[in-house]
Order: sequence, then structure tokens, then C-alpha cells
Amino acid sequence: MNVDLHCHILPEFDDGSESVEMSLEMLRREKAQGVGRVMLTSHFYRTKEDIDHFVRRRAAAFAHLKQAMAGGDYPEVRLGAEVAMHRALRFEDLTPLCYEGTNVILLEMPFEPMGFWFNDLRAIIDKNKVKVVLAHVERFKSLYGKKGFEQVMELPVYKQINTTSLLEGGFFEKRALFKMVEDGDVHLLGTDAHNLKARPVNMKAALDALDRKGLGDRAKEMAERAVKLTTP
Ligand SMILES: [Fe+2]
Repeated sequence: MNVDLHCHILPEFDDGSESVEMSLEMLRREKAQGVGRVMLTSHFYRTKEDIDHFVRRRAAAFAHLKQAMAGGDYPEVRLGAEVAMHRALRFEDLTPLCYEGTNVILLEMPFEPMGFWFNDLRAIIDKNKVKVVLAHVERFKSLYGKKGFEQVMELPVYKQINTTSLLEGGFFEKRALFKMVEDGDVHLLGTDAHNLKARPVNMKAALDALDRKGLGDRAKEMAERAVKLTTP
């Protein structure tokens, strides 16, 4: 089974799906592309709200979506969050933000040069209460420079890349990314889908691209890992 463990399909919640109808269409596309389980990883910003507030708000949006899905042919949907790194997180119970029923959390690093947050991230990892999936690690290369990127890649965490990065972007970036997949340096695929056009569900195209590069076995490994990490 394929799992999309990073997407913004929960309706009217963050900068992702703008309506229930859009969410249903995104889920239909996931299903048509062979995705059997979708983790709804809406953005969580500790600067904007606390964990309790987010969880309550998210439950309401999820109930709304589930109601609209009733009786339809959709993939399994489960809750998660894309948690933006914040200093306060190292002191908090992150369990409610993990993939539903697991101790695995999807963390997003700031879009700024490497700073204190790196130590905060280390503190979360060392606390050992949650397993960390780092979102779209391919973005770090240009952000943090070669040395910073190496530091991130050495962290004992699961590294997720976006399907779109395997399909779009420069020749050299893509070549480097396929090499990282080949070497087993990245561990998980997510669509990070936000809508139907600009940031669509494109799991199938990415899996096909991996296949063409002879990396079908790596894709299978990543899919199996995604199932394990999102299963309670
Ligand atoms: Fe995302």
C-alpha cells in the first residue's frame, strides 16, 4: 500500500484545501494514484496557537470531512500535523501532534539559515519521546549551505522528500535527489499537496519517475516504511 504522509487536504484549515469539495477531489486523486492511506498533516504553528486549541479545531474540520466522505470510495484518512519548529516544543507533550495513534511526528524546519532551532531539534530527538520525520529535506541544501545540510542529514531522523521535487526543478537538483533515494539517504515520500492545480496530488507521477530510474525497489521500501510509521 502507498501512503501519503504529508498533505494539506483537511478542508478550510490551513493554506491547503479551500473547501470540502476540493478535499474530496484530492482524495479521489490519491485513490486513483494508488494511495491507500492519507495522513492529513495540516500546518501547526506554535506561534499562533497552543496544541490543545489546534487539536480541537482540527477535530471539527475532520468531522466535517468525514461526514462528506460517508459512503464514498476514498482512501483511509487519518490525522497528523506538519509541525513548524518552535523553541517551546522541546518542553511540551508532542503526542497529540503525532500521526494518529503513533509516536511519530512530522516536523518542518524554518525557512531561514540554521540557528538555535537546530539545538532545539536535537533536544526533541534526544528526549526520545517521539520519532521525528523531517519534512521536505531537499529544501535544506540551498537554505543551510553544504555544511548545514550535512549536519541535518546526519540527524537520526526519517527524512521525507516531496514528490514534486522528483518531477520539477533543475536537472542537477533532480539528479542529486534521485541519487539520495538510490543511496537510501532519504526515507519517505509525501506529496505535500495543497490544492488541485499549483500543488496537486502527484504520487503516481513520482513513483513512475522512480521506476524509470530503476528505483522501484527503493520506492517500495519507502512505501512499506510509511505504512509502518503511520500504523498505530
Ligand atoms: Fe507541507
